[in-house]
Amino acid sequence: MTSTNRKPGAALTVRQLLARATRQLQRGGIRCIQGTASCRDEAATLIWHALGLDHADPAAYARIVAPAERARCEALVHRRIAERMPAAYLLGEAWFCGLPFHVDRRVLIPRSPFAELIEARFAPWMDPGPAPRILEIGTGSGCIAIACALAFPGARVVATDICADALAVAAANVARHGVGGRVQLHRADLYEGVEGCFDLIVSNPPYVPEADLRDRPAELAWEPRGALVGGGPDGLDLVRRIIQGAAGHLRPGGWLAVEVGAGTAALERAFPRLAFLWPEFARGGDGIALVAAGDLAGDNGARGRAGAGQ
Ligand SMILES: C[S@@+](CC[C@H](N)C(=O)[O-])C[C@H]1O[C@@H](n2cnc3c(N)ncnc32)[C@H](O)[C@@H]1O
Repeated sequence: MTSTNRKPGAALTVRQLLARATRQLQRGGIRCIQGTASCRDEAATLIWHALGLDHADPAAYARIVAPAERARCEALVHRRIAERMPAAYLLGEAWFCGLPFHVDRRVLIPRSPFAELIEARFAPWMDPGPAPRILEIGTGSGCIAIACALAFPGARVVATDICADALAVAAANVARHGVGGRVQLHRADLYEGVEGCFDLIVSNPPYVPEADLRDRPAELAWEPRGALVGGGPDGLDLVRRIIQGAAGHLRPGGWLAVEVGAGTAALERAFPRLAFLWPEFARGGDGIALVAAGDLAGDNGARGRAGAGQ
């Protein structure tokens, strides 16, 4: 008997349940763009969380799923398809840099390629030293700020966000990871009220052009619009402001790392005299610009909006 013609409620192994859920998600036409790469990943995320399984335990696949457990998993898969709610919001949890974060509709679901830079402690691009002062702009769930604090145990991190609701989620995650003594959250429009200079400024700001959101997959509608849309026809208004403000907040030898997604060409046109570095990522994703403080100092090479290639 195959898994497809089993009676509803009959016992399955986790492997069989995973295969079945994967097919259902594929047939349901869901989009996996918020931290998972495929329907199988998405199904595994739902099932492993619902059953409290360990992703590192290969024996999990052979475990028998009790009928009540199966019903729990199937309810999640059903909601994932019917409501198109991303798995991370269904579960209230997302993973970033191998760390769990509470997430809900107040914050973007963590998925930035910044994870790879942080896991490598920004090598070979830069060496922030053992105890860097780090500023994150637009912290959302706090995932980047917290992962930086844990990657650099001597670091002091200031993390800003304009949205009080997002900062409430970040505060819960700061407490969850026990980094309250080293990660300071601050409600601000970009650099507003931020004092002192930093070794590293990191930011994954909203940068999606408004026009691109019109045909967005239904999954994106669950995320806060203010976390996605960055202003201007190319979506890069906030990115330009972050670059223009960076020189005043970086120490000599410091770096700015700012994510722009598909906006790489527009950014190069907007700042023709800046020597951007563009790391490539083994796990996918692109569009994080690295700029050295020395390059930003004085004239930061901005042409401003008119020269941004629109
Ligand atoms: C793309 S999300 C990034 C969240 C998180 N850093 C991550 O990578 O998952 C952008 C965040 O920037 C915040 N934001 C938008 N405009 C801002 C501004 N002018 N100043 C500070 N934060 C802002 C949003 O509220 C949102 O939380």
